Amino acid sequence: MTIAHMENIVKRYGSQRVLDHIDLTIEQGEIVGLLGPNGAGKTTLIHSLAGLIRVDSGEITLFNQQLTDHIQEIKKNIGLVTQDITVFEDLTARENLEFFGGIYGLKGALLKQRVDETLEFVGLKEQAKKLPTKFSGGMKRRLNIACALVHKPKFLIMDEPTVGIDPQSRNHILESVRELQRQGTTVLYTTHYMEEVQSIASRVVIMDQGHVIAQGTLDELVENLQHEEKIVLEVAAEPTEAVLEKLRNLDGVKKVVQDGLKLQIISSTGAGNLDRVLSIVKDTGGVRSVSAEKPTLEDVFLTLTGKSLRDGEEG
Ligand SMILES: Nc1ncnc2c1ncn2[C@@H]1O[C@H](COP(=O)(O)OP(=O)(O)OP(=O)(O)O)[C@@H](O)[C@H]1O
Ligand SMILES: [Mg+2]
Repeated sequence: MTIAHMENIVKRYGSQRVLDHIDLTIEQGEIVGLLGPNGAGKTTLIHSLAGLIRVDSGEITLFNQQLTDHIQEIKKNIGLVTQDITVFEDLTARENLEFFGGIYGLKGALLKQRVDETLEFVGLKEQAKKLPTKFSGGMKRRLNIACALVHKPKFLIMDEPTVGIDPQSRNHILESVRELQRQGTTVLYTTHYMEEVQSIASRVVIMDQGHVIAQGTLDELVENLQHEEKIVLEVAAEPTEAVLEKLRNLDGVKKVVQDGLKLQIISSTGAGNLDRVLSIVKDTGGVRSVSAEKPTLEDVFLTLTGKSLRDGEEG
């Protein structure tokens, strides 16, 4: 069954097309990893799907119903973990969950049961009576996730839920997402962390500048790059723009990425550029190390967007 479907979605802010003809389908039971650099449009896409903002054109269906026609009904089956943590700081963990459960129409014994189960699920049972002001970032995030789960949504949307939290909470969250999938929940998961996508996503969607620029399983995405050669160099001094330009102008070179003294040169297969690359970078005062590497998902992202996923980690 199709859980969510977006067709030809356009969303403008002023003259900027933040979502520029997006097509996306999410099937039941998937964990879809949504990747993209800062400003790609991930949050806008998520807010459109969750019915928080209206798109300018195109069609969105959830659970095979038109979003605009059945918005209240659909929202009951969605859980949204927003990019910024949204919990009430002057309510205890339990009271936060009771509040959010109440919004979804839960009450009485059922509400209590769901609140207990959900606190247990996110590992906050012992903290139920505490205020979030006493919590670490990771605990606050887990409470925030609990608020999105208390009504047992069929479709959980998470917008960078692991930014800036401790490794233990992060692992707990990833494990929870896997467990939710085992229980039949469908998940759309946005992150900057490649290894998270590699560890939990059954399918990956890469966005840039309002477009979906690639999607597929991890294997499919990396497979496309098997047709490329990657040379990784560490040079003695930072290369000048002239050196970078010479590298870019070599036959078969698709992309040159510089990060301090580290250079990556991605060419099409058979370009055989190693000798030429080495002779060009001699101008930088020498080469400290050279290697040829197999492409990873990080490379898929770099090749497609020209940006490192890590760019916006703090943002
Ligand atoms: N309410 C708004 N008004 C005007 N412009 C907006 C608004 N919301 C988003 N934008 C712009 O739309 C673009 C996409 O923003 P969005 O927040 O969807 O990106 P993102 O992929 O979630 O980025 P990040 O990784 O930083 O969270 C950005 O250029 C942003 O400035
Ligand atoms: Mg965002």
